Formats: sequence, structure tokens, C-alpha cells
Amino acid sequence: MFKLLAGGLALALALAATVLAQASDPILPPLWTLTVGFASPESAYFDAESNRVFVSSINGQILEKDGNGYISQLTGTGTVVSEKWVTGLNAPKGLRSVRGMLWVADIDEVVGIDIDSGRISSRVKIEGAKFLNDLATAPDGTVYVSDSTALKIFEVKNGTASVFVEGGDVVEQPNGLLVEGNRLILGTVGPAPSGAGGGPGGAPAGGHLFSFDRKTKQRTQLTMQPVGGIDGIESDGKNGLLVTDVVGARLLHVGKSGDVKVLANTYEQLASSGANTFRNLLLFHNNLTAELFRKQWLDACPPKDQIEGLTLPDARGIKQAVSVPVICTGGFQTASVIRKAILDGDCDAVSMARPLVANNDLVKQFAAGKDRADKPCTYCNKCLVHVVEHPIGCYEESRYPSTDAMYQEIMSVFVPSAFS
Ligand SMILES: Cc1cc2nc3c(=O)[nH]c(=O)nc-3n(C[C@H](O)[C@H](O)[C@H](O)COP(=O)(O)O)c2cc1C
Ligand code: SF4
Repeated sequence: MFKLLAGGLALALALAATVLAQASDPILPPLWTLTVGFASPESAYFDAESNRVFVSSINGQILEKDGNGYISQLTGTGTVVSEKWVTGLNAPKGLRSVRGMLWVADIDEVVGIDIDSGRISSRVKIEGAKFLNDLATAPDGTVYVSDSTALKIFEVKNGTASVFVEGGDVVEQPNGLLVEGNRLILGTVGPAPSGAGGGPGGAPAGGHLFSFDRKTKQRTQLTMQPVGGIDGIESDGKNGLLVTDVVGARLLHVGKSGDVKVLANTYEQLASSGANTFRNLLLFHNNLTAELFRKQWLDACPPKDQIEGLTLPDARGIKQAVSVPVICTGGFQTASVIRKAILDGDCDAVSMARPLVANNDLVKQFAAGKDRADKPCTYCNKCLVHVVEHPIGCYEESRYPSTDAMYQEIMSVFVPSAFS
């Protein structure tokens, strides 16, 4: 799983299977939220046998062997039993248990922790591993682990590792894993990045779910349409899957036929930083308060056709009172409006934020003689809300032919990848 995964989202995934069975409404509010005690939490895993939730904290860079990663132990109801239950890991990510042992993916090794004692009892170094990410366990003790950079899934049996399947054409950019009977389910972040080896962030989001027969390794594609940047996977107990989308920060339900339903959107940072964090989280997570907040927000907005140049009267007033150049801000995205403002002497220049997020070649379009972009910014402000946690970009779906096209455009800021 990727570092980007918010702690709240991961915890929600761990608990969602239980909640889903009770919920008639598809939107899942979190049962509980913890905002302290973790450092770059990457993964949360509910171990039914011990009735404990384990959380991996990278506590540093995702590929740094700094020895300060740790695992926390919580009760199933969100009470911290031990904040630093197991220390001495590097950048721990995916977690899963089998036969009383909690297995952890840690850069290039899988680490086995005895759940009763909390002692590390096994470290299996994996030859050729670069970025071990998620991990799955089978009842016979086999551990499967995905490598998002080497584009491989490894299999660890009796302390020995081997390649289970490999290659970008087979595993795309692999991430989430789950064993279900004799199938290994794989969720990918997206197509494999171009160039040998690839790297995290190098591919646009648009992952798929696949299954591999654990004996024959025969591959079946479970979803034809891109699902998102798939990270963690759990079963819903009814032939469906609960999936976290690390790019969209969403909890999804994928049905038997590959249909995708959004169960929850998360804005973890609202819960973990700034002032009034609990209030802010409630405002966005609770169906009723979210609607009230939305209404208050929309009521406060001027009509959309009056936003461009809304502050020009103020700029004019300021310009008359000062002798330095005045730059005016506020919705500018039409060449003739900008030209008029400057020629009329209302301001000396304008600045543009959202219009350039929506059309990053807008100035070139103006230079080519175009007055306004074909798909202008709608001033919806979704980019502002998303920038708190997600890559900067335009999140207004109505401006794109499809959701996938939107994610491709947003994720293009990562191409070429910083890791490749
Ligand atoms: C993604 C995004 C991030 C922004 N971050 C900041 C910020 O950190 N500080 C700030 O004062 N304004 C910030 N702004 C506000 C812009 O600077 C600008 O004042 C506002 O978007 C209105 O201009 P516009 O109509 O051209 O978008 C941000 C705007 C966007 C779209
Ligand atoms: S998300 Fe909305 S406000 Fe932001 S650039 Fe896109 S259309 Fe404009």
C-alpha cells in the first residue's frame, strides 16, 4: 500500500466489512477515528483472532532504511494498547496475519512478528525486491507480497522467497493483495509505468482488479473499467470487495460484476492538523452537516457569471490610493475582460490561480488569439479542497469526458516519475 493512504481511510477499511453488513445507506461514516500516535501511517489491519488492529507507521521516507518504522497495536474499538508495539522496522507497509504471526512488508524484506509476544521472529530478505508494498497470507502459511517498483509479486514459503508472477503486462503497477480460497486477488494503481523497472507515481491512476489461480497462476481480469489507484483490498464476505483508492482517497465497493460504488470519501488531514479538527471532520463526514456546510458555502458564493473581475472595483480604489503597481485577483480567464481591466486603468496586471489549474495552457491560448478556453474553470473550488491531500489539479468531473480522463490529467503531474 502507498504512503499516501490516509490513516483514517485505512482504519475505515479494516472496519468496513462489519459495518457494511448493517448499513442500508451506502455512505459509511467512520465508527471511530484516531489522529495521534502514528507517523506516516501506511496500513491498518484487523486481526480477528486477537481482536486487535495493527497499524504500520513509516515514520520517514517510504524507501529509507532508517530503522525507525513501527507497528502500533489497538483494540477493535480504537483504544491504543501500545503505540510502539514493535519497533526497529524501516518503512513498514502492508500487514496481514496467519497462524499467530503478523507479517509486514518492509522495503525489501518481509518481517514476521509473533502476535502473542510482540517479538520479531523472522526476517526474509527478498532478492530483487525494490518497493515491497502490500501483503497477503494464505491459511497454509504462504505469504504473497507485491513490489510496486520491480513490478513483481513474490511468494514466501517456509522462509524462502520466489517470484510468483512478474512483468508490467501481467501485474501492471501492483499494490493491494488478498487471498480468497485458491485465488490471489491483485489490485493495481494503474498501468505499469513506461521504462524498465518503473516506479511509484510513474503511472496515471486507473488500476484494475485481477485474480490469479494460486496453483496454475492463470490470470483473470475482474474489472474492465479503471477503478482508481487501488491500495488495500478486503472481502465484504458476499463475493464483493472493499477497496481503498489511494489517489482519490475513497473507500469503494466492487461488486461481483465489477461495478464500483463509492462508500466513503475521506479528508484525513482535516482530522489530524490545524484548529477545530474534530469539528471540521464532522462537517465533511456527516451526511447532515456536510449538506449544511455545502448550503452555507453555496449561499455565500456570488453567481458564477459575476465572479470574473469581481474585485475590480476594489482594485480601482486601491490603485487611486497607492503609487505602486496593483495586481488584481479573482476569476480572470477571458482575454477581453483582462485587457479591458488593464486598459481602463483598474489594475496593472491580473493573477490567475484556478483558471490555470483548469487550463494550464491558457496564456498560450490567449497568445494564439483565443478569448476564452472551450472548457473554462467553473469556480467549483474542488481543486482547493483536494489540494489539502491530493495532487494539485482540476477535480471538476464535468470538464472531462470521463472520470478516468480526469485522473489521467491530474496524475500527469507525476510523469516523468520522480522515482524513475
Ligand atoms: C489549489 C489552490 C491553492 C491555493 N493556495 C493558496 C494559499 O496557500 N494561500 C493563499 O493565500 N491563497 C491560495 N489560493 C488562492 C489563490 O491564490 C487565489 O487568491 C484564489 O484562487 C482566487 O484567484 P483565482 O480566481 O484566479 O483562482 C489557492 C488557490 C488554489 C486554486
Ligand atoms: S476544480 Fe473547479 S475551481 Fe478548480 S480548476 Fe477545476 S473547475 Fe476550476
